Amino acid sequence: MQQIRRNRRLRTNEAIRSLVRENIITPHDFLVPLFIVEGKSVKEEIPSMPNYYRYSLDLLGDEVKELWSLGLKSVLLFVKVPDHLKDNKGTEALNSNGLMQRAIKTVKETVPEMLVMTDVALDPYSSYGHDGIVEDGKIINDETCKILAEMSLSHAQAGADFVAPSDMMDGRILSMRELLEKENYKNTGIMSYSAKYASAFYGPFRDALDSAPGFGDKKTYQMDFANRDEAIKETFMDIEEGADIVMVKPGLCYLDMVRDIRDVVDVPVAVYQVSGEYAMLKAAAEKGWLDHDAVMLEQIMAFKRAGAQIIASYFAKDVVKLLS
Ligand code: PBG
Repeated sequence: MQQIRRNRRLRTNEAIRSLVRENIITPHDFLVPLFIVEGKSVKEEIPSMPNYYRYSLDLLGDEVKELWSLGLKSVLLFVKVPDHLKDNKGTEALNSNGLMQRAIKTVKETVPEMLVMTDVALDPYSSYGHDGIVEDGKIINDETCKILAEMSLSHAQAGADFVAPSDMMDGRILSMRELLEKENYKNTGIMSYSAKYASAFYGPFRDALDSAPGFGDKKTYQMDFANRDEAIKETFMDIEEGADIVMVKPGLCYLDMVRDIRDVVDVPVAVYQVSGEYAMLKAAAEKGWLDHDAVMLEQIMAFKRAGAQIIASYFAKDVVKLLS
């Protein structure tokens, strides 16, 4: 038979390639993580995350304005809590005038239309660096859920649009949803880190927030990275409990899960390209071993191709600047 089908016809030049391209990257895809610290005029680079910074509240406004001007309309807030405010129960997390609560207000006062999501977990507030309350060397579940629910309410009261629990306790979505409903925060959404794996890729983030576990690891609550079916179970349970958006984390090594989950759920699927993924590319590019921008775009496109509808990424600003 003479060859009649030739796939290369659709790759002849950029015009035809762009005409048949199946996915595109836009600023609307991104959720921008932001690290906040106490102090004045602080913009400090995170050593293991080159060109990524912690901001004090007085500089947060400018950063948020810049993001908005670039078309980035959603932020995910994390706070670095001073050591003297840390304890086992995350007391400071419920302070209505705490750093997170003030950060939410700062963003909303500067750019009211900016969508504000907040990290809900105890680790930045915990003297043990764990995501839950510690008792006899164990992370206790139900007591932790109660505090996470109160923390969510506190963020909602400060003006957060979505709360994003990153802890992996059982039943936390239900605890949070019930309290938010009861207190009439019916429109506050929940983006659940539903399939969050116990990963070594979180290292630089723990440097950024000084939140590394003081003992042991997070394997009794975060998922075993050998597991695939379990991620589906976790995700369906979170949706039943009231999650509006589900997430897979980390990103690149877990694209199979992004696709598996996207194929079976009816809520938006987010992916988190985590700090270690960011650090790896920065390091390789610094050495001249990889083309930073080209690899960055290829990775972001991989998330879209896998089916992610929301991408939390430290590269968000770089990508959008490059594309414009
Ligand atoms: C804490 C939290 C972590 C990340 C987001 N929220 C670290 C952890 O679970 O230890 C990781 C983000 C990143 O590495 O970029 N609950």
